[in-house]
Amino acid sequence: MANRAWRAGWLLLAGIALAGPAAAQDAKAGRDKAQMCVVCHGVDGIAVAPNAPNLAGENAAYIVAQLEAFRSGKRTHEQMSIIAADLQDADIADLARWYSLIKVVATPPDLD
Ligand code: HEC
Repeated sequence: MANRAWRAGWLLLAGIALAGPAAAQDAKAGRDKAQMCVVCHGVDGIAVAPNAPNLAGENAAYIVAQLEAFRSGKRTHEQMSIIAADLQDADIADLARWYSLIKVVATPPDLD
């Protein structure tokens, strides 16, 4: 029993060492995971649902903080609270990386 737990611990450590920091926030994995977000936040992170914010180009740390807040219940929203409840830390990191890497060009209105 203890021996098995010990071995599982080593396998876990080996897995983490192999995965490395890059895999902890993988933009490609984030793009795949974002399939469940596109219906509201858009394929390119520009929202298509009128009540959803744009995520494209948003700071990764901000996205992580918001998803963690939805998951923990610190921030609540009828849709996002349900969606964030199923996200693992790695999912949040990947999604934040993906959205933060989308380039956004802002053009302020010409008000002369
Ligand atoms: C059913 C529509 C819907 C889906 C699907 C959805 N969201 Fe959202 N999301 C929203 C809405 C609406 C808000 C605004 C919440 C509020 O008003 O507090 C939001 C807010 C957020 C925020 C906070 C942004 C900010 O500016 O504070 C993040 C981050 C976010 N969503 C990420 C995701 C991710 C990642 C997924 C996919 C795993 C996802 N959302 C899926 C509707 C959705």
